[in-house]
Amino acid sequence: MPSSVKRAANAPAKPNDLGAHFMPFTAQRQFKGKPRMIVSAKGMYCTSDDGRQILDASAGMWCMNAGHCHPKIVAAIQKQAADLDYAPNFSYGHPVAFQAASRLCAEMPGDIDHVFFSNSGSEAVDTAIKIAIAYQRARGKGTKTKIIGRERGYHGVNIAGISVGGLGYNRKVFSAALMPGVDHIPHTHNLEKQAFSKLQPEWGAHLADELENRILLHDAETIAAVIIEPVAGSTGVLVPPKGYLEKIRAICTKHDILLIFDEVITAWGRLGKATAAEYFNIMPDIITSAKGINGGTVPMGATFIRKGIYDAFMQGGEYGVEFMHGYTYSGHPLACAAALATLEVYKEEKLFENAAELEKKWSDALHTLKGAPHVIDIRAIGLMGAVELDPGTRNPPQEMSRAMETFDKLFFDEGIMMRFTGNVMAMSPPLIVNENQIDEIVTKLGKTLKTVK
Ligand SMILES: Cc1ncc(COP(=O)(O)O)c(C=O)c1O
Repeated sequence: MPSSVKRAANAPAKPNDLGAHFMPFTAQRQFKGKPRMIVSAKGMYCTSDDGRQILDASAGMWCMNAGHCHPKIVAAIQKQAADLDYAPNFSYGHPVAFQAASRLCAEMPGDIDHVFFSNSGSEAVDTAIKIAIAYQRARGKGTKTKIIGRERGYHGVNIAGISVGGLGYNRKVFSAALMPGVDHIPHTHNLEKQAFSKLQPEWGAHLADELENRILLHDAETIAAVIIEPVAGSTGVLVPPKGYLEKIRAICTKHDILLIFDEVITAWGRLGKATAAEYFNIMPDIITSAKGINGGTVPMGATFIRKGIYDAFMQGGEYGVEFMHGYTYSGHPLACAAALATLEVYKEEKLFENAAELEKKWSDALHTLKGAPHVIDIRAIGLMGAVELDPGTRNPPQEMSRAMETFDKLFFDEGIMMRFTGNVMAMSPPLIVNENQIDEIVTKLGKTLKTVK
């Protein structure tokens, strides 16, 4: 239909009218030609529109940590929607936001004692950056405004997130609009030195020293914070080399710079603990979270801060707003009710413990794919996993990459939902996964790779 011809507002959508939806991060024309459509889900499985059971090897998008449609979480959301669908959190409050804040902070490591709610990982990152800059100013260090990110870092899609993020293809169209006052340290991935490492690679801790060089270049008095993912997720599960995070922490402390861990993927059991900070035993100053915070059921982001940061804001006249920031849906009742119920499920069903117990099985199973066609690296930690493929001579986007073909075939031919990012097949099953399902995921990935030229 030409765009000048308007359909009547109440006209029913055609059964297969896929036109209007401008889809996020999708090759739209490819998708709309052959849609991968999910119509319902339960536990480890989604159901496709042609009635097939699809085993979820990616927890949706790293978020359905308690599995799909958990009855306890569904009931909590339904009850909350019936009791209080919405109340503002600007100068009003509702109990469930306060309950969620205290319960979630109690799960955080060290002296984290406050949380600021938002609606996504991207917003949690923007909030963290604003808190870092405002905190430095509040404590009399107003020149500390720059943020150091890392190459191959993914921090969502808002302007701050893509600025501190380190993905050229996410930034290039917007390069003129990026945030000023940002620099990056190198990523830690090196196939020559690290390929097929089990858990943390031995090589690469020295790359943290690049942070010292950046600080030398800019001067510590101009830097508010460093932001990194403890394990880079969306750019292909890049596991930190042994000793690397320790060095980053020490350098930040030495130069009085805040360390932000972006834990949008790694928090809430992905590594078998509430946070990667706990897994690696490194204490950041700010932790960003989303996704697994409420099992991916209702949009929610959260920025957790250490003791003292909140207090620094509590100055000036008591009728003044201490932090000029917030979203209409910050601390939305449905999101908070879902978070409280999800936390109970994590505890009652010992899901973090399940992830920790399965870490070795998961890693061993994935490493059996060494030698499978096109496989040039395998990485696994907690219940995150990546199989990196040799791109060969394919020429995307004119041609389908090997990774995209694998992803497509897994869905249609093998009933597996998995992610691909660049040349990497990325996996993160719900924490309810069992050993048989791990074997099924790995076997079907291996089988599919044999069909890819
Ligand atoms: C580390 C990290 N930060 C931020 C984000 C952005 O989260 P969202 O897509 O909810 O905005 C993501 C999303 O995958 C992420 O992995």
